[in-house]
Amino acid sequence: MSGNTEWRLRARPRGEVTRADFEVLSAARPVPGAGEALVRNIYLFVPPSMRLWMDEKESYLPPQPLGEVMAGITLGVVEASNHPSLPVGTYVNCMGGCQQWHVAPAERLQPVTPHAGVPLAAYRTVLDVQGLTAYCGLTEICQPRAGETLVVTAAAGSVGSLVCQIGKKLGLRVVGVAGGREKCDWLLEACGVDAVIDYKAGGVGERLDQACPDGIDMLFENVGGPVMDLVLDRVNRRARIALCGLVSSYNGGGTQRTSALMQLVNKSARMEGFLLTDHYGRYAEVTRKLEEWILDGGIRYQIDILDGLDQLPEAMGRVFHGRNRGAQLLRLSQEERT
Ligand SMILES: NC(=O)c1ccc[n+]([C@@H]2O[C@H](COP(=O)([O-])OP(=O)(O)OC[C@H]3O[C@@H](n4cnc5c(N)ncnc54)[C@H](OP(=O)(O)O)[C@@H]3O)[C@@H](O)[C@H]2O)c1
Repeated sequence: MSGNTEWRLRARPRGEVTRADFEVLSAARPVPGAGEALVRNIYLFVPPSMRLWMDEKESYLPPQPLGEVMAGITLGVVEASNHPSLPVGTYVNCMGGCQQWHVAPAERLQPVTPHAGVPLAAYRTVLDVQGLTAYCGLTEICQPRAGETLVVTAAAGSVGSLVCQIGKKLGLRVVGVAGGREKCDWLLEACGVDAVIDYKAGGVGERLDQACPDGIDMLFENVGGPVMDLVLDRVNRRARIALCGLVSSYNGGGTQRTSALMQLVNKSARMEGFLLTDHYGRYAEVTRKLEEWILDGGIRYQIDILDGLDQLPEAMGRVFHGRNRGAQLLRLSQEERT
């Protein structure tokens, strides 16, 4: 790993991401300047929203410029440093990109202090963006009250499974919607949800009626499309819908039925989109709480790791076809210092 392998976005994907959308270059390992550190990327997180960054249209980030190293959410280790706050060996979270090495000023590198009982990879996923999104989306946007019914889509995923378990801790009736029997069983057995709906098996409307006999007070929406419509058809008066993401539309397309949206009017319901960055002020408090829950076994999670940058298109395919089991990561190098 003396040089730097860089994945640059060559073309804007049409539909699903393919290897042909990238140019892979061998470059020299970058050298840190004054106040900077050299970081060896260990984990690259491959969230569904990475697909949105590749579009020409601005999402919550500016469009990824063509011909430049693809942006990427990473966890790495400092291997050379020109800043006293970042000694060699410090683990850091950063936007290190789809490459092996990364140089950044100290203020763009967030030190990570892993707890002995928690895998390092958790600090870039459940104890970072995914945890903050789940916790703040549920508690602040849905504003739950014990005894109410919460439906979660992509419920076995990284964000969704945390939402389900936090919902149970808050005394909610939690109904998880996921693709396939295996994911549904995991939600019941490991995450302790009250009911599951395998949307791939069909009959979602009837299953919602059975699972939510008192109607639906909250929806934590990760997917969008027809299942979301069926949930909206069944919301109670003053329901709260946290719009976290619409993963079914990220590769293009996606529609919502107008009569389902009309339920927001019919039921004086509130749908509110949010970004985890709106809640960064609570980062330390929320991740500490989640770490405690993970250490005492009160929160279960999955992390799905593939080896090597070459697996980037496969990782994206897994996320959009539901083959991932929890947060999808690529391992770019070993955790131990070189
Ligand atoms: N607002 C924010 O700040 C914020 C932050 C982080 C994440 N998010 C959003 O949170 C959601 C979940 O993200 P995550 O990282 O936790 O991913 P994830 O749930 O671990 O993985 C994505 C899952 O979505 C489901 N899915 C993918 N394509 C689908 C389709 N066409 N139709 C139905 N289901 C589909 C699959 O689950 P099944 O096998 O069950 O279908 C897949 O496993 C995404 O919408 C993401 O954009 C938002």
